[in-house]
Formats: sequence, structure tokens, C-alpha cells
Amino acid sequence: MQNTVRQTSTNSLRSLITADAEELGRQLRAHQQRTFPPSARKSIRLFTPAEAADFIGIHQGYLRQIIAEGYGPAPLPNGRRMYSVEDLDQLRRVLDDGAKGGAGKYVRHRRATEKLQVISVMNFKGGSGKTTTSAHLAQYLALRGYRVLAIDLDPQASLSALFGHQPELDVGENETFYGAIRYDEHRRDITEIVRATYTPGLHIVPGNLELMEFEHETPKALVNRQAHDSMFFARVGLSLADIESAYDVVVIDCPPQLGFLTLSALCAATAVLITVHPQMLDVMSMSQFLQMTGDLLEVVENAGGSMEYDWLRYLVTRYEPNDGPQAQMTGFMRSIFGNRVLENAMVKSTAVSDAGLTKQTLYEVERNQFTRGTYERALESLTAVNAEIEQLIKQTWGRK
Ligand SMILES: Nc1ncnc2c1ncn2[C@@H]1O[C@H](COP(=O)(O)OP(=O)(O)OP(=O)(O)O)[C@@H](O)[C@H]1O
Ligand SMILES: [Mg+2]
Repeated sequence: MQNTVRQTSTNSLRSLITADAEELGRQLRAHQQRTFPPSARKSIRLFTPAEAADFIGIHQGYLRQIIAEGYGPAPLPNGRRMYSVEDLDQLRRVLDDGAKGGAGKYVRHRRATEKLQVISVMNFKGGSGKTTTSAHLAQYLALRGYRVLAIDLDPQASLSALFGHQPELDVGENETFYGAIRYDEHRRDITEIVRATYTPGLHIVPGNLELMEFEHETPKALVNRQAHDSMFFARVGLSLADIESAYDVVVIDCPPQLGFLTLSALCAATAVLITVHPQMLDVMSMSQFLQMTGDLLEVVENAGGSMEYDWLRYLVTRYEPNDGPQAQMTGFMRSIFGNRVLENAMVKSTAVSDAGLTKQTLYEVERNQFTRGTYERALESLTAVNAEIEQLIKQTWGRK
């Protein structure tokens, strides 16, 4: 009798959850179709001359001079000039042209002696700003003229959604990174999975729930491993080797767990960025994360994984400078980690969270949606963070 009751309640729980999941999925898809119809093209906003000059890396005066020579966009009806990402691209090429003497200074692709940078953005604390950081870093680097690949390794696929690839609608079977690292005969070449985005120079490998399969399949693969199979921790790196020459920087957005996906991303990384919100609970959670990661990496190392990093940095996210405890917590981290905490923190801003609500980044939303100060402060903080990371990349390459 008891058994029957338990059976019934299990069954009804399952059917209730399944029915709820189906209905919720249907309604969400309908909502997304209305809010983000497939025809809705996302795009990077236009940039002012000052911003364009900064992205290209020249003075505004020099930009004006090149424009006077007939390059760049035509003026708008109001007489002002605004620059698209395509304009930035074109101007870089003009500057690098023999006559202007740039010769590789503005199109910033890496040279043969400079190795691919793989930056894994991680922390197992949910909501620490991993996805926001990854998305803005990837776009910033592309806007600066690097060839960037963003990889969404999180089954929740927020990065893909932010870049306009809805995980349930636009990403099919075997179209995530799982397709390139799976253990069975359906494994595909990563070149078949990479997608272009609306930002020239920025490609993406989207994610969706399918990535969870890697967490399920890896323990089985470890048990049934054949001599010629590569270990789980080598698989991300091995598949990246196939597209190495096409990119300068890879940015991996990790899931908020310390599972096989995150460990694999760690092993493929040449650099690690740990995002942390400076509050007691978050920092305590990060302490556990570091401890567990250390233990796991020892296991991986003993199994032959190589763990060479160019740099590891902590990035303080959603920072409120006027909040005493947050400032204290940040100071506490700086006293322990020293200059491994990035000098610049990403401030908390409604410009970032509001943009996120409409699945946009700060480089996409129109600045006039916000009060001027709000947007400018957020962008200033973001630029400082990204420029500091770019500096680390350039140092690794031995560039000035
Ligand atoms: N600088 C910021 N200012 C305001 N809101 C922010 C900022 N950075 C992130 N957020 C908001 O905080 C929330 C969590 O950020 P995000 O998704 O980047 O974290 P995450 O670490 O990737 O989360 P998860 O662990 O779920 O993957 C989002 O709603 C995002 O819009
Ligand atoms: Mg995320």
C-alpha cells in the first residue's frame, strides 16, 4: 500500500514537472519569438570619433586627417560622423597600408612567434559576472582589431543568448562545443561548429543543455578508456588546436560549477580570469572554489595534464565604491593576492544590468537610453578593465 502511494506520488511529481517544463518552454519560446524574432538583427552601435580613435589606437587629430583624405564614413545629415565596426576595420587597413606606414600596427593579429591566448573566465559562484565579463571582453578585443573566438561552455548558454543565438531556438544538436569534445563517433571538427557574429573579427561557439552530456559521459569514458583516447582534460585544448591559426584570443565562459567542463577549460587555458563580487559570502565561496580547484588540478597533473599559465587574475565585479564592506573586502583580497587582483574593478551599473535584460552589451545599447552619467561611468570602468586585460595579453606576446 505504502509502495503504491509512493509510486503514485513519484509518478505524479514527474508528470507535473514534465508538464510544467513543456508549458514553460512553449511560453518562453513564444515570448522569445515576439521579443527577439529571428529577423531581429543585433548589431554593435555606432561610435563617436573619440571612441573610434581609441579603438583604432590613434589620436583624434590623425583620424580627422585620414577622414579629410576621403576615407571612413560619410557625414550624417547633422554633419557629424559616426563610425561602425566595419568602418573601424577599413580604417585599420588604410593605416596599415604601405603608404601610411602602419605595417601591422593597427590590424593587431598576432605574429608567428606569438601564441594563441586562451582566457578562461571562471568561478563556481553563480552570478559573479562571468558571462558579462566574457561577452564584453570578447567584443572589446574584436573592436580593438584582434581575431576573437568566444566559447560558451555553460549549458545555461547565457553568453550565446547575449550574442543573439537563443539556446533552444537557434542551436541544434551537435552544434555546441560538446560536438567537438564528445567521446563517440558523432564528434565533429570544431570548424563546422564555429559561427560568425555581427561583430567582424568575433566568432562564437554557442552552448545549450547538450553540454551537460560531457559531465555525464566523462565518468563513463574514464572507466572504458581505450589507450588511444585522449583524457577529458585534454579535449578542449585538442579541438582548439584545429582552429588555432584563425584566432588571436579565445575567451571561454565557464559554467558555475567545478565539473569536467570547467576543469577542461582550465587545462586548455593559457590565462585564467576569476570574477568575484566583493562580499563576504562570495569570497568565502571563492575560497572553497580555489581549494577544490587546487586539489583537482593535482589529480589532473598526476595524470599527465600540463598546467602552464601565463597569468591568473582576479576581477572584482559589480563593485560599489561607496559601499564600505565591499571596499573592505576588496582591500582584503588585494592584501592577500597583491597585484593578481586587477587594478581596475567593474563597477555595478544599471546600464549593464538593463542592457542584459534586452540581451545586449554596453557596445550595443544606445547610450541615450540612459542618463548620460550612468552610461559613461559604466563604459569608463569597462574600458579600464578590458584595457588592463589587453595589456596582459600584449605582455605575454612580448609587445610593448
Ligand atoms: N557590472 C554590473 N553591473 C550591474 N549588473 C551586472 C554587472 N555585471 C553583471 N551584472 C548582472 O548580474 C547578473 C549576473 O551576471 P552574469 O550572468 O554575468 O554572471 P555569471 O557569473 O555569468 O552567472 P552564472 O553563474 O549564472 O553563469 C546579470 O543579471 C548581469 O546583468
Ligand atoms: Mg554565466
